[in-house]
Amino acid sequence: MGINKIGVIGVGQMGGGIVQIAASAGYEILACDQDEAHNQKAQAKLEKSLSKLVEKGKIEAAQKDEVLAKVKWTTQLQDFADCPLIIEAITEDVPAKVALFKELDQICSADTILATNTSSISVTRLAGATQRANKVIGMHFFNPVPVMKLLEVIRALQTDDETYQTILEIGEKLNKKAVTVQDSAAFVVNRLLIPFLNEAFYAVYEGVSTGPDIDIAVKAGLNHPMGPFELADFVGLDTLLAALEVMQNEFGDSKYRPCPLLRKHVESGWLGRKTGRGFYNYS
Ligand code: 3HC
Repeated sequence: MGINKIGVIGVGQMGGGIVQIAASAGYEILACDQDEAHNQKAQAKLEKSLSKLVEKGKIEAAQKDEVLAKVKWTTQLQDFADCPLIIEAITEDVPAKVALFKELDQICSADTILATNTSSISVTRLAGATQRANKVIGMHFFNPVPVMKLLEVIRALQTDDETYQTILEIGEKLNKKAVTVQDSAAFVVNRLLIPFLNEAFYAVYEGVSTGPDIDIAVKAGLNHPMGPFELADFVGLDTLLAALEVMQNEFGDSKYRPCPLLRKHVESGWLGRKTGRGFYNYS
């Protein structure tokens, strides 16, 4: 199936990165968030990110303009009616994602593939909310999207081979290394990462060490580019908590219980870099 246009719904940290790489790969993009203010913020971030690449000499100024010209912005789901592929990257909330998939299912042509960038929610469940379950699939990108090579491709129970092959081809055009994953909560990378980050919170909660020292230990002892608290703030503590809750519900195993210290941070609105404060204070 030849696809030359991609819709991206939810243009925050992840969706914004998807817009950048897909427009840079030559796709026409229709980008959408809940209101004009969110769209303008994403547009400014895209311009800044591309300007940095120009400053570093990685792309020409003209290429930046070409990429920007490929992206159209909207706040109306109706505008996605003729879009052959839509990648959803809204907040990690089951009812919100189910409602969006139901609405898109009504609006879009029968051929449209609906992909989700969920980091933990069942793709099979989202597929089941539509009348086109065979055309629903997971495309899980990693943050920062322009830098991280991996794309987890998640087949829902219902996803057909044509949809799967189309998404593998698009992953290649986006210059990502695709790994196929069964539809199991948190897939592969987050299955390993999320309990690791939660365990770091428990280590501080139990007084094993301090957050900054744990970050130093993991960077110096494991060669990770970021310590667990730096990474948790980068990913978003709300995203981390939501993923843990999904894993706890899906697997019914107490080893996924979220650390109370993590929960308190989220309750405080300390969600990470995006709010200026998470485990660390960035203000
Ligand atoms: N967008 C585009 N490019 C970016 C970027 C961004 N947001 N952030 C960094 N970069 C680029 C820089 O421009 C630089 O490019 P260059 O080498 O060509 O000049 C390169 O990445 C390295 O950046 P910096 O020199 O500024 O900083 P670092 O060397 O410290 O690298 C990092 C920053 C790439 C974020 C690195 O710390 C890293 O790899 N961290 C781990 C990230 C990670 O684990 N991500 C996965 C999170 S899990 C996830 O996303 C799943 C979700 O479901 C939860």
